[in-house]
Amino acid sequence: MTVDVKGFFDPETGTVSYVVSDPATSRAAVLDSLLSFDPKSGRTSTACADAIVAFVRDAGLTVDWLLETHVHADHLSALPYLKRQVGGRTGIGANLPAVQKAFKDIFNVERDFHLDGRQFDRLFADDETFLVGTVPSRVFLTPGHTPACVSYLIGDAVFVGDTLFMPDSGTARCDFPGGDAPTLYRSVQRLYALPPETRMFICHDYQPGGRPPAFETTVAEQRARNIHINDATTEEAFVALRIARDRTLNMPVLILPSVQVNIRAGEMPPPEDNGVTYLKIPVNRL
Ligand SMILES: [Fe+2]
Repeated sequence: MTVDVKGFFDPETGTVSYVVSDPATSRAAVLDSLLSFDPKSGRTSTACADAIVAFVRDAGLTVDWLLETHVHADHLSALPYLKRQVGGRTGIGANLPAVQKAFKDIFNVERDFHLDGRQFDRLFADDETFLVGTVPSRVFLTPGHTPACVSYLIGDAVFVGDTLFMPDSGTARCDFPGGDAPTLYRSVQRLYALPPETRMFICHDYQPGGRPPAFETTVAEQRARNIHINDATTEEAFVALRIARDRTLNMPVLILPSVQVNIRAGEMPPPEDNGVTYLKIPVNRL
């Protein structure tokens, strides 16, 4: 079944959010929404999320789902804001608790913080199915970049998060807590087993060589041309390349604010006794 897909590219973080809709019922899912955050002032902005809200309203869509492909380390999620504006149930992969546990001590989260993923309405297990309107949809656990990464196959389109970038950009890093390059290779093989014509939408684009933003490809194109994992790439070769490259990468600018918010499904930590919310910077921990 062919779904309508609208991508929203944020040049600040290179993130792509999506609205995916069923043309027959005008029911929709929003994937990987974004709350802008200025680390210099500590201010948030809903400008990116508001573009999604405006699109949903103009197109007359009803939002069934607010989905995340993983706990992002480069931007804050706008889940709570979007839920208030357009509704929908939140969902993420069933391995979310692994990420919550990995960061619990780093951020010394409050004693009553739940490490079972209950901050989300739904934790999707591998191969679990759901509907967007009348469109059959399926979840694949695709760990590697993080332990809780999932991909969503919605009709004829698969949303792979950071499992793969565009063919000219390869794959995402595997050096965050719980990341693992061999695991990522195997996750990619699962995606490559989908029908070759499957449309594939990626979650980040860093515009190599200054080319315009791009975020739609196909399984066939990735298998033929992805510079990190194509049909000719062995697991050994990929793992060596990925580990060498990860050694050269700096931490994303927003990793500290992002992760402590995103493990809470986009909610801020509880305010202190003066009513102000603070985000923490753990010193010498990452
Ligand atoms: Fe990511």
